[in-house]
Amino acid sequence: MKSKRYTRVQRIWALPNSMAALVDTRFRGYDTVAGVMEYVWISHPATGSLPGQPEMRYPMESTRRQNPSTYNGLAMHIGDINIQNPLCLAPMEDVSDVPFRLLCKEQGADLVYTEFTNCEALVRKVKGAFKKIELDARERPVAIQIYGSAEDSMEEASRIVTDQGADFVDINCGCWVKKIAGRGDGAGLLRDLNKFRAVVESVQRGTHLPVTVKTRLGWDPDNIVILEVAKFLHEMGIAALTVHCRTRKQGYTGDADWSWLPRIKEASPIPLIANGDIETPAHAKECLDLGCDGVMIGRGAIHSPWIFSHIKHYLATGELLPDLSLAERIEMCIRHLSDSATYRGERRGCMTFRRHYAGYLKGVRNIANLRRDLMEFDEVAPIRERLYRFLEEYKAEEDAAEAAA
Ligand SMILES: Cc1cc2nc3c(=O)[nH]c(=O)nc-3n(C[C@H](O)[C@H](O)[C@H](O)COP(=O)(O)O)c2cc1C
Repeated sequence: MKSKRYTRVQRIWALPNSMAALVDTRFRGYDTVAGVMEYVWISHPATGSLPGQPEMRYPMESTRRQNPSTYNGLAMHIGDINIQNPLCLAPMEDVSDVPFRLLCKEQGADLVYTEFTNCEALVRKVKGAFKKIELDARERPVAIQIYGSAEDSMEEASRIVTDQGADFVDINCGCWVKKIAGRGDGAGLLRDLNKFRAVVESVQRGTHLPVTVKTRLGWDPDNIVILEVAKFLHEMGIAALTVHCRTRKQGYTGDADWSWLPRIKEASPIPLIANGDIETPAHAKECLDLGCDGVMIGRGAIHSPWIFSHIKHYLATGELLPDLSLAERIEMCIRHLSDSATYRGERRGCMTFRRHYAGYLKGVRNIANLRRDLMEFDEVAPIRERLYRFLEEYKAEEDAAEAAA
């Protein structure tokens, strides 16, 4: 069986006026199922299309993968970052801190994002806000996510996070909670697209780094604006768009509607990262098969930080890895806890870590007493001891059940 190979040829033509250049990108390759193909994408960097000529895009079908080890012949670029089908750890408030980002990175996440930080808090130099944007060199490439709708503050916050050493700046345009979206920040921007553009421009003014956007489908089902948003963000030179496939009105209810993904891809050549309810390797594959350039995982990573390596294995081989044993989960949990204690100080690290126990112990039976105990400790040693004792009892019970069977 012939393997799938692509060569990429990119030609840049300078234009006589100051309108920069036209970019002609050709992907020529052989696909075992579809045969020889040439994918052509001609675009103007500013407008996404070639004036006076029929718009040409690489056809969706051409990005269908037959061989999962070369999952998508096209790499995704965010500035100099060049990754094929990146698996991204979602920005999550009080969760996506340095220890968690490093753990997910170790488990195969390609891109990680800080939790969102309010632009005003950064401008006012609030200490807690600066803690949220702390980075560790080992986690690169990393995005710092900011939110707000006051343009001056967003521009200044963009400058601050650039100085902080981010690899790219992500704008939160999807937060649904009332006190944020209600005042026009986060998903509130989906109700005023002129303001949305102005905020994006202000962030671009404050940085030389690539800027990305994370948003939702629209404010409510009657006001889905994502196709328009994807088009103007591309025209504005935004490096990638992450879409949580729910409306603001949905919050977390209902299912993420992935059927929008190919429509977005069809409407705009902007690199697209799928988000919402991706909890298994098969889900990730489904989103990539819909034409997305990358996937972003939030709650699935809280339950299983190892999900990234499992997705990678599945995309490369088509096989599912077995879930981690309880002993392996407890080892990872303790290591993560210790890192959290080192990073935040023992007491605070243990308290902050409490939200992670449910994930590491998901699906394990008879954990009511264990969870109650874990919520009381604020030092690593007793937590470690309690977890190991639970593991021993659990194993003894399993052995007894096996002997009785
Ligand atoms: C605890 C928690 C905190 C979150 N904080 C943020 C945030 O700071 N910025 C953001 O863009 N989204 C935030 N989100 C939304 C996630 O990034 C993601 O869009 C959403 O959870 C859907 O993805 P999932 O189904 O993979 O969890 C948060 C989600 C959770 C569960």
